[in-house]
Amino acid sequence: MSRLRATPLACVVTLACVLICWQARAAATGSHGAVAAEHRLASRAGLEILRAGGNAVDAAVAAVLATGVVNPSSSGLGGGGFMIVYLADEGRAHAIDYRERAPASAHRDMYIRDGKADTKASRRGGLAVGIPGEPAGLELAITQFGSLTLEEVTAPALQLATEGFPVEGHLAKQLEANTEALAADAELAAIFLREDGRPYREGDKLQRLHLADSLQKFAKKGSSPFYAGAIAEDIETAVRARGGTLTRSDLGSYKALQRPPLATGYGDWRLVTMPPPSSGGGTIAQVLSVLEPYDLGELGQNSSTYLHLLAESLKAAFSDRAKFYGDPDFVDVPLARLLSPGHAAAVRTRISSVRALPSAAYGNVDGGSDSGTTHISVVDKDGNAVACTTSVNTAFGSMVGVPNRGIVLNNTMDDFSIQPGVANAFGLVGNEANSVAAAKRPLSSMSPTIVLSKGQVRMVAGASGGPMIITSTLQTLLNVVEFEMSVEDAVTAPRIHHQWMPEMLAVEGGIPEPVRDSLTRRGHRLRPFSAIGSVQAVEVIGSSGGKRTVRAMSDPRKGGVAAAY
Ligand code: DON
Repeated sequence: MSRLRATPLACVVTLACVLICWQARAAATGSHGAVAAEHRLASRAGLEILRAGGNAVDAAVAAVLATGVVNPSSSGLGGGGFMIVYLADEGRAHAIDYRERAPASAHRDMYIRDGKADTKASRRGGLAVGIPGEPAGLELAITQFGSLTLEEVTAPALQLATEGFPVEGHLAKQLEANTEALAADAELAAIFLREDGRPYREGDKLQRLHLADSLQKFAKKGSSPFYAGAIAEDIETAVRARGGTLTRSDLGSYKALQRPPLATGYGDWRLVTMPPPSSGGGTIAQVLSVLEPYDLGELGQNSSTYLHLLAESLKAAFSDRAKFYGDPDFVDVPLARLLSPGHAAAVRTRISSVRALPSAAYGNVDGGSDSGTTHISVVDKDGNAVACTTSVNTAFGSMVGVPNRGIVLNNTMDDFSIQPGVANAFGLVGNEANSVAAAKRPLSSMSPTIVLSKGQVRMVAGASGGPMIITSTLQTLLNVVEFEMSVEDAVTAPRIHHQWMPEMLAVEGGIPEPVRDSLTRRGHRLRPFSAIGSVQAVEVIGSSGGKRTVRAMSDPRKGGVAAAY
């Protein structure tokens, strides 16, 4: 039988085989510890540290540093992020905020030209660069909560940068898609383009000797050279040469912070997640508070009614995100009200079970590409856990490289609302709460989350993908907690996304046609999306006293492979 005439059943069987192989490749099971990262070498770096006796924080930092080497479009020393740490012996979670910060010269209208928002300036070049937080944040994590030295946790990344590694699919795609912009920056061109000007391809070996030198300094001296030493000088020079105003004194004033994590309940489960300046934890908690009274299990995973309720709850929560969320050191985010039972009940009253309401009914999309962020989930043998999401914002950030340092600088300034109502790179609109100001942190969607049950870690999750981070993390959590799916199925299952504005329900191809038709009939404007977010998750089955299985799953959407022992 010719391939073209294959029966629908054969197609279904083939698809099922592809999905199963996909999952088998991306998942890993052990009885001690596990790491899920977006690149197999990063998961392996974390595992190496766990096996060497490091705890979950040591492993997470090793995996973050390794990701910065092998997938530099997603993250690196020139970016920033958030980390949730759960320490089993304390029974307590901690949140580390190492988000980039606006320089002292930043101001509300810095991207306005002749009354109009100049989105090019907030996305590319020196003015797009926020003060990087990654070196300070990773150092804080290790000194406060790690058990190994910076030198030990940096070793796997250093080895990859020094010896080189094969370019894999995700990086090859990013290099191909961004060749022109990379060519315009001498440092980035020297790292990522071959002598003939073409980008490295899948399978080519890439060495990162300048970055190796920066990592060596981080290993030996910690973050200080990045904020006060020679590297700080070079960052200033690189940013200024590309039209930016960030100074050494901005770098010198940067501090990573510890904040009380945002904790919320869902049934018997307890979630600890990231508070502002990320909107991720709050938005997830808001949606869960709206959904909790519904019997979702009865409706069924990815049933049209479940997806309708989810989409409407997301619209309501994202409209609050646009209006109220910002850096808590600058604005008062009314979290207590937004997470109150009264607020959830008011949203439920508004939701119609049969019709999608216009976004305007909830207050006042295009999702971006999944390319400037990475997530790491780790559980160690003692039941400690880390969820860490870290970013340079969009692929290769501002496209500004620091000469001879191998560092790619972020473009996280674009996460501010540069003018009320003007969409950022992810189609997100915002308001005064997230307007630009000196020393302010731009609002984020990063959602590193740890789920506890009976005082023990049950699951760790988070994602990349701009605002889709929130929806993909949330759906993965609900798939495990509410729909009792395995972590592999939970991560792989098709997803939807709504972010209130624009009025569009993004739907992955795997959502069955009858479900899509039913959502359309309810008035949702569907738009097919090939991938909604990329989730890295670990699930713990069993207790520390009895038999214990840890299962890690890297999202096949980004080609990751998890590791466990
Ligand atoms: O903090 C945020 O919400 C964005 N900077 C995240 C960007 C992102 O996830 C890009 N894609 N992977």
